[in-house]
Amino acid sequence: MCFHRGFCEDKLVILKCRVCNCSDLKSIVSLGFTPLANALLTKEQLDKPEEKYPLDLVFCPNCTLVQIVETVPPEKLFSDYFYVSSISKTTLENAKKISNEMIDRLKLNESSRVVEIGSNDGYLLKNYVEKGIWVCGYEPAKNLADEANSKGIRTFNQFFNVENVNRFVKGEYLDRREESYNGVEFKVDVIHANNVLAHVADLHGVVEGIRMMLKPEGLAVIETHYVKDLINSTQFDCIYHEHLCYYSALSLCKLFQMHGMEMVDVERTEMHGGTLRAFFQLKDSSVARPASYEKVRPFLEDEQKKGVYNLQHYQSMIWNIERMRSDLLSFVNYEKIKGKSIAVYGCTAKSTTLLNYFGINKDVIDWVVDATPNKQNHYTPGTHIPIIAPGGEEPDFYLLLAWNFKDEILKKEQAFRDKGGKFIIPIPRLEIV
Ligand code: TMP
Ligand code: ZN
Repeated sequence: MCFHRGFCEDKLVILKCRVCNCSDLKSIVSLGFTPLANALLTKEQLDKPEEKYPLDLVFCPNCTLVQIVETVPPEKLFSDYFYVSSISKTTLENAKKISNEMIDRLKLNESSRVVEIGSNDGYLLKNYVEKGIWVCGYEPAKNLADEANSKGIRTFNQFFNVENVNRFVKGEYLDRREESYNGVEFKVDVIHANNVLAHVADLHGVVEGIRMMLKPEGLAVIETHYVKDLINSTQFDCIYHEHLCYYSALSLCKLFQMHGMEMVDVERTEMHGGTLRAFFQLKDSSVARPASYEKVRPFLEDEQKKGVYNLQHYQSMIWNIERMRSDLLSFVNYEKIKGKSIAVYGCTAKSTTLLNYFGINKDVIDWVVDATPNKQNHYTPGTHIPIIAPGGEEPDFYLLLAWNFKDEILKKEQAFRDKGGKFIIPIPRLEIV
């Protein structure tokens, strides 16, 4: 089956950088073979063999992109997706804040248009819909696209790529009752892509699609996990097959430059333990935003000063992961010997990497709680731990693998902690609270 530009195999191992095509890729760490992070199992699947793929992280000395070499077919990863963004209050608040900021910044009104790539259940676009702004989401997972559409948030169950954008700008997708295409290309004011550019195999197709769809005065807002935090806080569990790329501001800049766009603003946010939020406009934009550049240059200079552009910066990661493994295993094994019960809190994609790489399975973990209904009554990939809804029996310890929502979850579980229950937080370093 040929499913993608450039390759027709069931999987692909890259030999060249996903951004700049450099072939001098340097190895950072190999996490062995792991199952796909969201390949949760049903009871019937427990006895069947599981697909496992290598997880090898490399660094490109030319553009500074950190990336994994294996590309698992996107259809395998994203056609039916368990992750529902609206489950997290933090995610909803972040979405509301940035939507309002964009409305203010670009003075958006009823005649403005906003697109989100990877729009999930409409958790972000709903903020624009409430203000009467035209929206459209691209969401490859059918279950999520259906949910968004049922809530009145226009969502195409498609991958965002050059072919689909071509049809969009020609007006082929317009709802004729609302819009009439008069031969002028249909372009948009804002394009959001949150945690998308780390995920896409067709990276250049997506960025080119953004260029094609953006109005001359428009802005693309890109959020992606920040490689500086990945390294500094040893967030190695963020490495899994869905995350192909781990960006510095510089690698992101270079990627967009290749498609005629420039970074006009950039910041780090606290989302997911450290997120890079960058704003791009067309190089030939009709709007000059000179003041914004003043934020980009120091940001890049700081990355350089901190070593983000050098291979040596990444080479300590393996030792930090091993220290983390030994700290965590010593703690949980000792508590197990004492007869304590330990459950995992948050069946995150990250948990698949951590549990499999550290060899923590159902002998140590009694169960996993997760608020996502679709995940419940399944079993964790590779480690076969049952997943249940929160609110039932409580363990002595929760191993918090949704550590990116630490504040939200600790607050929510205050009653458990008041009764003497403890949280084990493995990242960035072992902490018991
Ligand atoms: P993520 O770290 O990949 O974003 O996934 C977070 C997971 O944690 C997701 O499956 C939902 C779950 N979760 C809860 O079960 N309860 C919560 O309060 C929060 C914030 C997340
Ligand atoms: Zn590169």
